Amino acid sequence: MTDTDPAATAGTVADRARFAKELAQNAGALARSYFLRRSELDIETKRSAHDLVSEADRAVERMIRTAIAARFPEDALVGEEDGCRAGRSGFTWIIDPIDGTAPFLAGMPGWCVSIGLVDAQGPLVGAIEVPMLAESYLALRGQGATLNDRPIRVAQARTLADGLVGIGANDRISNRSFGTFLAEFGAAGGAWVRYGSGALMLAWVAAGRLIAYLEPRMNVWDCIAAHCLIEEAGGRVRPFDLDEGLMIPAPVLGASPAVFDTLQRLGRLEEDTFWVPQAISV
Ligand code: IPD
Ligand code: CA
Ligand code: CA
Repeated sequence: MTDTDPAATAGTVADRARFAKELAQNAGALARSYFLRRSELDIETKRSAHDLVSEADRAVERMIRTAIAARFPEDALVGEEDGCRAGRSGFTWIIDPIDGTAPFLAGMPGWCVSIGLVDAQGPLVGAIEVPMLAESYLALRGQGATLNDRPIRVAQARTLADGLVGIGANDRISNRSFGTFLAEFGAAGGAWVRYGSGALMLAWVAAGRLIAYLEPRMNVWDCIAAHCLIEEAGGRVRPFDLDEGLMIPAPVLGASPAVFDTLQRLGRLEEDTFWVPQAISV
């Protein structure tokens, strides 16, 4: 994160939260307009055949970055498509213009715009906009979390039997380990779902729809806005390293407090080698 320059911190945290909500809604409307004509979009692959980016992702990120730079020029910015811009205010915006690009391009509704703001203490604001479900999530540290302006709380789960767990995976992890994990998770009585976007499933933990979300490797822009939502809704998250680890994919777990430790253990999230992909011999 950036060093703080008091002269550069114009605008309050509450200003930034209001701005984040409105910006996520405007960005969601722009993303939706691309979604409705998705068959015309230029699509590129990134690291692999399943890691996609379209002109919609790029245009929505450009729109968000331009709006933040105009309103809070001293704030730092990290975006999935266009990388980092340094700042002097001590605030860093962390954005994923479309989380769930693969479902977006396949015509499914489970995608969202994710805008987070962090400071030296961690997640400060989280705004997640889900245009196709008409859902706007917002959290501000110390002020609670809302869905469409109504307060939300995590589920009162005591054990894995008390609800559904969202699980995600990508090509950064070992498929064999993922199979092992799912077998152990099922044997422990867990039931899981996957619905498009990881950021959205994390928001659903905050809303009490899922009792947890677990993914072995995610980037900071996939999870940080939702971390703020979950913490403000009374849940627990595995903290993301916002200093040296900011740009390094890391394990993500957000949960109702009573099931957090069980899932952290079952997910072997602190075992450095378990999730590392193995070379495939044919
Ligand atoms: C992906 C989504 C997906 C998760 C992946 C992420 P993207 O982000 O969150 O649900 O499983 O790990 O990379 O590429 O759609 O922005
Ligand atoms: Ca993402
Ligand atoms: Ca994305």
